[in-house]
Amino acid sequence: PTALDLAVIGGDGIGPEVVAEGLKVLEAALGEDGPKVTTTEYDLGARRWHATGETLPESVLDEVKAHDAIVLGAIGDPTVPSGVLERGVLLPLRFALEHYVNLRPAKLYPGVESPLAIERVAPGGIDFVVVREGTEGPYTGNGGALRVGTPHEIATEVSVNTRFGVERVVRDAFARAAARPRKHLTLVHKHNVLTHAGHLWRRTVEEVGAEFPDVETAYQHVDAATIFLATDPGRFDVVVTDNLFGDIITDIAAAIAGGIGLAASGNINPEGRFPSMFEPVHGSAPDIAGQGVADPTATVLSVAMLLAHVGLPDAAARVEEAVAADLAERGSAPRSTSAVGDAIAARL
Ligand code: IPM
Ligand code: MN
Repeated sequence: PTALDLAVIGGDGIGPEVVAEGLKVLEAALGEDGPKVTTTEYDLGARRWHATGETLPESVLDEVKAHDAIVLGAIGDPTVPSGVLERGVLLPLRFALEHYVNLRPAKLYPGVESPLAIERVAPGGIDFVVVREGTEGPYTGNGGALRVGTPHEIATEVSVNTRFGVERVVRDAFARAAARPRKHLTLVHKHNVLTHAGHLWRRTVEEVGAEFPDVETAYQHVDAATIFLATDPGRFDVVVTDNLFGDIITDIAAAIAGGIGLAASGNINPEGRFPSMFEPVHGSAPDIAGQGVADPTATVLSVAMLLAHVGLPDAAARVEEAVAADLAERGSAPRSTSAVGDAIAARL
C-alpha cells in the first residue's frame, strides 16, 4: 500500500498513553518514504459515556468501518458499571467488524524472564499462537436473568456456536498452522461436559483437517491445557478455541511469556471486508493511568501485527526486531511509557 488510513481508539485508562507510543513506532518503522499514514481519533469509552451516555454510536461505527485498520488501547473503567463499556464498545466493534479471528501470539523473547521455573523454557521454548474465536460463544449476550434479587434468581449466558462460525475460525487456524514450521494444531475445549458445542468443534476440526493433511492435530480439555501451559508450553504451536476459553488461556499465555505488558493481539477479519483491530491484551489499568509508567510494548507488538496484516511484512519484522533488541537490553531500571516508545523507535 502507498497509504495507510488508521482509526485510533485510545479508550480508557492507560489506553491513550500506550497507543501514542504504538503510533510513534509505526511512523518510525515506515519512515519518510513509506506509505503515508493518516490517523483519525475516535473518542470512545468512559469519558464519552459520562458526557453523553453514548457507547458506540452508529455513525462512529460507520466512520470506523471506512479505515484500513484500527488501533485500540483499552476499554473499561471503574467509574462505569461493569459491562457497559465492554458490551457497549469493545464487543460491538468485534462483532460488527466480524473479527472472528482473535489472534494472540505468545512468544518468549531473549532477555525476558518467564515465571515458569522449568529449565526447558529457554527463549524459543514458548512460541505459539492462540486463535481465539471472536464473535460467538458466551460473549454474544444470549442469556438473561429472571427473578433478579430473589432467592430463586436464574441467570443464563448461552454459549452460541454455529457451524459457520466454528468452521471459519478452524479453517483459519489450520491455514496458520500449515504456514508454520511445526504444523501443529491443538483444539482446546471441554467436550466431555459441553457435549453439544464440544462435539461441533471436534467434528469441524476433523473435517476441515482433511483439507490440511500436513497439519498434525491434538486435543486438550481446557482444564488440562492450563496445566500444560504452566508445565510444558513447548508442546503448543497453534491453539484454536472458543471465545471464553480463549480469553482465559491467553492471559495464562501472556503470563508465562513475560507478562501481560508484552502480550499483543489482533482482532482480525481475514477476508478484509472490514478493518481489523489491533490492541494489547491488557486492560485499562486505572491504577496507573495518567502516570506515564505503563509498558507500551504490547501495543507496539500489536502495531507490528497490524503492519503484517495490511501487507507490510518487512515493516512488521523491523518493529518486532526493534522490540526484541530493546527487550534483550532492557534490564530492571524502570522507564517511562514514552521512554520505551522512544527507545524502540530510535532503533528504526
Ligand atoms: C480481552 C478482554 C475483553 C474480553 C473484555 C475487556 C471484554 O478481557 O480482550 O481479553 O473478554 O475479550
Ligand atoms: Mn481477556
